[in-house]
Amino acid sequence: MTSRGMWTSRMGFILAAAGSAVGLGNVWKLPYVTGTNGGGYFILIYLVAVLALGFPIMIAEFVLGRNTGTSPVGTYRKLAGKGSPFVVLGWMGVAAGFIILSYYSVVAGWTLHYVILSITNAFTGREPNEIRALFGDLYAHGPLNLFWHTIFMAITVAVVLGGVQKGIERSSKIMMPLLFLLLAILVGYGVFSDGFGRTVSFIFLPKAENLSAKTVLEAIGQAFFSLSLGMGAMLTYGSYLDKKVDLVRSSLLVCLMDTGVALLACFAIFPIIFSHGLEPSAGPGLVFQTLPVVFSDLPGGSVLAVLFFILLFFAALTSAVSLLEVVASYFIDERTWNRRRATLLSGTIIFLLGIPSALSGSDLLSSVTILGRNVFDTMDNLASNWMLPLGGLGMTLFLGWRLPSTVSRSEFCLGSRHSGMYRSWITCIRYVAPIGLSLVFLYQIGLLGS
Ligand code: PHE
Repeated sequence: MTSRGMWTSRMGFILAAAGSAVGLGNVWKLPYVTGTNGGGYFILIYLVAVLALGFPIMIAEFVLGRNTGTSPVGTYRKLAGKGSPFVVLGWMGVAAGFIILSYYSVVAGWTLHYVILSITNAFTGREPNEIRALFGDLYAHGPLNLFWHTIFMAITVAVVLGGVQKGIERSSKIMMPLLFLLLAILVGYGVFSDGFGRTVSFIFLPKAENLSAKTVLEAIGQAFFSLSLGMGAMLTYGSYLDKKVDLVRSSLLVCLMDTGVALLACFAIFPIIFSHGLEPSAGPGLVFQTLPVVFSDLPGGSVLAVLFFILLFFAALTSAVSLLEVVASYFIDERTWNRRRATLLSGTIIFLLGIPSALSGSDLLSSVTILGRNVFDTMDNLASNWMLPLGGLGMTLFLGWRLPSTVSRSEFCLGSRHSGMYRSWITCIRYVAPIGLSLVFLYQIGLLGS
């Protein structure tokens, strides 16, 4: 075990897991999918999904990973047997890692571009419309996207090459609290703007016309994506964990931090949209088109802008690192490759896979659509709305119905002061999560009406 690396402390583990969870999913993705889904029910369903599916499934990933001390594929091989169909879940996790990181890196590249825009004072004295156009220019510029994608992947590979303790754990410790603080400042600005009242009603007021199978699936997909669940990222982090850690408490903390940052991001971004007459459904550029409007307006705004985009870049990096770690740990554990070879090869393939996403707004590919979505959107939809919830469903079926309960019970209770919660947890894993997820899938593929 020690040759695979271990977390140096409980706090280090929790911060790294929270570092994986808190990322572009919270600040970039949640506000924009809330906007494209029309607000209303979306956040409500997302919050229910975090509580009823996310929290128990996060415990489940930690239980499985810590029990076997190995990667997702190895975990299912060890517990279900070599030829078992459950091993496919491990493979799907590795595949999801490849797909998600390939476009995630493109968006993370945008944060780097915005660091440069902030440093060069590009927002000061500009009108909201001009600020919005800056994103359009970037999105359409293929070579620029490719450049930042390359830089971001290179940095991610470098961190993962450093190994578990040195690379991943250290970077999470300072940046996370700072990001939280900065978002809180931006929310403070939003509270006093005239868009705040509309933000509250947009986000929390359920509107019947917004409730569809698609919305429910996207809200659940968002919960999985934001909490890094369903593909074995948390399972992999759990595999570096010692038996003294309380898995229930750790999961609760990670869920709270992740959801806290996600809600703060919404309350920072929507007031700007409503007080400046911008469109909530603007799509993936939303955060980049809105927050700079505040930065251009606040005293000292350009310094805040630089700080904010650097922090967002770090949040993205700690998540990207966990994505690459899933893929690399497969080659390390199952193929006995060394870390260097595993990381370099996976990083290169992911980089290549990301090229179409990087070019998706450029002349070359902007007209290419697959079932009505561009390349970038197709990757995101496939991974977050299908692979992650399906991976979660498979995992609950395995843990609830296949793994002997003596194993799940003893791993759940080790190091925990919450052993009494085992019964409610396993009920959720056996019934609530699989039934809920199956219904959503059946609706989505049209088998239960819509
Ligand atoms: N949770 C990360 C985010 O919100 C993304 C991620 C998804 C990371 C799946 C790992 C696994 O940005």
